[in-house]
Amino acid sequence: MKKLIIANWKSNKNIETAEKWLGEFSEQVELFSLDLSKLTVVIAPPSPLLATVFDAQIEHVLVGVQDLSPFSSGSYTGAVSVRNLQGLGVEYAIVGHSERRRHFSESHADVANKVVQAIDAGITPVVCIDDEYLTEQARAIDPEARKKCVVAYEPLEAIGSGDFQPPAEVEPIVARIKDEFGNVPVIYGGSVDEENVSDYLKIADGVLVGGASLKVKSFMGLIEQAL
Ligand code: PGA
Repeated sequence: MKKLIIANWKSNKNIETAEKWLGEFSEQVELFSLDLSKLTVVIAPPSPLLATVFDAQIEHVLVGVQDLSPFSSGSYTGAVSVRNLQGLGVEYAIVGHSERRRHFSESHADVANKVVQAIDAGITPVVCIDDEYLTEQARAIDPEARKKCVVAYEPLEAIGSGDFQPPAEVEPIVARIKDEFGNVPVIYGGSVDEENVSDYLKIADGVLVGGASLKVKSFMGLIEQAL
């Protein structure tokens, strides 16, 4: 399986800065003749910038969303449903990120519903699981649905802190996650950068990258290490 590298831009960037990032990224891919087809690279921008990322048409770069409505469509003001995404070409949906669970009070059941929405729409759910509530978070999801997920293991204290969890400690947790979900891809997230990415790719199926995906220089450095 190709290693999965997901750039999670969170609530950063606007049209101007996203276009600049995408332009520079494409230029550098070409300049250094990087073969992105060896990886699965996904950019997950804020939803208003989805069209900007699609318009850039970067070869071998897929597009994801950072969240999904737990409902399919209808009177749910402010929620972006799979119906709204239909036809755009979104292939991945991050669901249950700890920032959503914490700041938007998402429950395990909400996350489980989002997983079902994504699967039914042919979008791969990337379910974020933390160290503390791993078992509850996993078991809230229907066992059949679990088998169709990608799981992002994100220890809470490692997110955005620079304090990444050593790969040797991540490895047994990847195994625990596979016990709960089946043999699905498990990626690691939490202060991944160009210095540590190679170590994570030895013990996991990919990485979810926040801070280091915001600047082309750091993201490109990370991609080069991953290739
Ligand atoms: P970080 O974020 O790389 O900035 O730690 C990762 C994430 O929250 O997905």
